[in-house]
Amino acid sequence: MSALEITVAECAGFCWGVKRALEMTLEAARTAPPPVNTLGPLIHNPGVISDLESRGVGVIASAEQARAGTVILRSHGVPRHTQERLASLGLTVIDATCPFVASAQKKAASLHKEGYLVVILGEKEHPEVLSLRSYAGEGSLVIESAADLPDILDSSRVGVVVQTTQSPERLAELAQVLAPKTRELLVHNTICSATEERQTAAVRLAAQVDAVVVVGGRNSANTRRLAELCSEKQPRTYHVETAAEIDPLWLKGARRVGVTAGASTPLEQIEVVVERLKELDP
Ligand code: F3S
Repeated sequence: MSALEITVAECAGFCWGVKRALEMTLEAARTAPPPVNTLGPLIHNPGVISDLESRGVGVIASAEQARAGTVILRSHGVPRHTQERLASLGLTVIDATCPFVASAQKKAASLHKEGYLVVILGEKEHPEVLSLRSYAGEGSLVIESAADLPDILDSSRVGVVVQTTQSPERLAELAQVLAPKTRELLVHNTICSATEERQTAAVRLAAQVDAVVVVGGRNSANTRRLAELCSEKQPRTYHVETAAEIDPLWLKGARRVGVTAGASTPLEQIEVVVERLKELDP
């Protein structure tokens, strides 16, 4: 009889937008004009990327490298000028930008058009934020938290859009700090519920178990964030990319182990981790 209780978070792994992008890419691998390349790795998950490679889907680092065939735009979206450049090259462009990201892009563009100073809450170098910035105009500000706001803003009319994976708490804090600095504040809450659902389920689980294993690419911002949130509740939180990384010592004395995974982690990788934990069960 197993002594170790393994629980997978209620909501874990692929989100709708990533699943959609992967399905579009698999379809392109079968039917689109070759060579088929994604612009940047489709998702931050090395296992999925090597699977795509075996199906003939390559990765190009920039639009300049696109010469022929098909280019797939990933769920994070791309800057406006990149999209325009690809369209002008006469390539087949498959736009797998998540519709939630596309909606945030539209909101950024419309705020800019209406003359607002656009403030983007997000990670400065993240591709999604770079894409939002291209729609928000030259004068827009990218900040990672309310603390990054300058003392004096260039306009008293401010519009906010948010990287889809940010936390509602960070947005609430920003709105509170911004309100007294502006005459007009328009906040578009473009946070995606998939992120929040994963985070809420992970934190709830972390509080109930003796150790947590978070599965996903180390280059995946949302997976790292899950690990961070879980470790606040349960210091014995471990972020792994593959089941092989699990150290049996992590489970020492643990009766309950929780498993969760970022939005770019396929179900199969979660299952392999669960199987490994079962094997290690003393
Ligand atoms: Fe889209 Fe939300 Fe996933 S924005 S890519 S469904 S995390």
